[in-house]
Amino acid sequence: MIVKTPPLGWNSWNTFGHNINETMIKEMADAMVETGLRDAGYEYLVIDDCWSLHERDENGKLVADPEKFPGGMKAVADYVHSKGLKFGMYSCDGTMTCARYPSSFDYEFIDAATFAEWGVDFLKYDNCNRPVNYPGRLLYKRMGLALANCGRDILFSACNWGVDNSPEWIKETGAHMWRSTGDIVDNWQSIKDLTLAQLPLLKTNGQGCFNDMDMLVVGMGGKGNVGVGGCTVEEYRTHFSIWAFFGSPLMIGCDIRDMSEETKAILMNKEVLAVNQDPAYRQPFEINTVHWASELAWSAWARFMENGDIALGFFNLSDHNTNPCLAMADLGLGGRSGKALKIRDLWAGEDLGTFKDQFVANVPAHGARLFRGQIVDA
Ligand code: GAL
Repeated sequence: MIVKTPPLGWNSWNTFGHNINETMIKEMADAMVETGLRDAGYEYLVIDDCWSLHERDENGKLVADPEKFPGGMKAVADYVHSKGLKFGMYSCDGTMTCARYPSSFDYEFIDAATFAEWGVDFLKYDNCNRPVNYPGRLLYKRMGLALANCGRDILFSACNWGVDNSPEWIKETGAHMWRSTGDIVDNWQSIKDLTLAQLPLLKTNGQGCFNDMDMLVVGMGGKGNVGVGGCTVEEYRTHFSIWAFFGSPLMIGCDIRDMSEETKAILMNKEVLAVNQDPAYRQPFEINTVHWASELAWSAWARFMENGDIALGFFNLSDHNTNPCLAMADLGLGGRSGKALKIRDLWAGEDLGTFKDQFVANVPAHGARLFRGQIVDA
């Protein structure tokens, strides 16, 4: 299985935590279709931690909690599949998951076979309660191998939060995406922290194994399991812009049965999603960064698209409005090249004109602007 663009979907953890059940999950599957999320490309519906009983069965197999999932997991998977979606589940490389349910240490091949039997298409694999002397580098490889031999294509989503030097070895394990950050919570400080932590790791992101900046908090409004404070709509748009532009998987975390129009407009902006899903998947590069009092205030980024266009991301992490300036010479345009950039504003959905020397855009405090430029004759 080769994963060519960042996976898109929904995950239960950010809003629901342990509070999950079959009815709610089926309603999420319905909502993914009815709201248009599925057609916009969100494909995976993932149940996170807290889905099982506290004991394995007599054959050592994991058992779905019958109170939460009375029809069993195969029935949930069948329902999710009937909606044209893919089904994801969760386990961990230690003896217990982070919420202290049984997990896959020493049961890797049995659990991979169980997930395959249930029709699972995606496994998020966490990193809690690992026995001493068993490094993640070994345990993630064990599960990678078990999944590759379970007889079903299962996307391997490694979640070790970027610790233990994982950028050095995570691709050895067969992971298709890996959590390159700590846990997100629903506030601006968390978005800022995860963005800054991601910058040195961007060079490791690429096709086949994507840096996962953690699930989205867009639309949570401070409610739910990680709803600590909430963000403004502008901040949610910035969060989504950065995750999308940096090529992170986009796993929605809000209650999609009840999304505001603003949330929908953020999550389903086709032109922004097209940058995230660009088939060439080239890494973003920094073209202009300004620090204030030694803190990164704002930065301007570019990413070359498969069709020759240039995507531009202007991100303002500071508390002040800014007017970043992009010199076309920094992209090899203008001057003797005879070429200029015809720029479209992806959030406004507006063509802004053709620029041959420089391009300046206002970016409000905590804001982001995303553009797509087409190379034209000056
Ligand atoms: C954390 C993980 C979260 C969530 C949680 C469940 O380790 O980073 O995304 O899965 O465990 O207990």
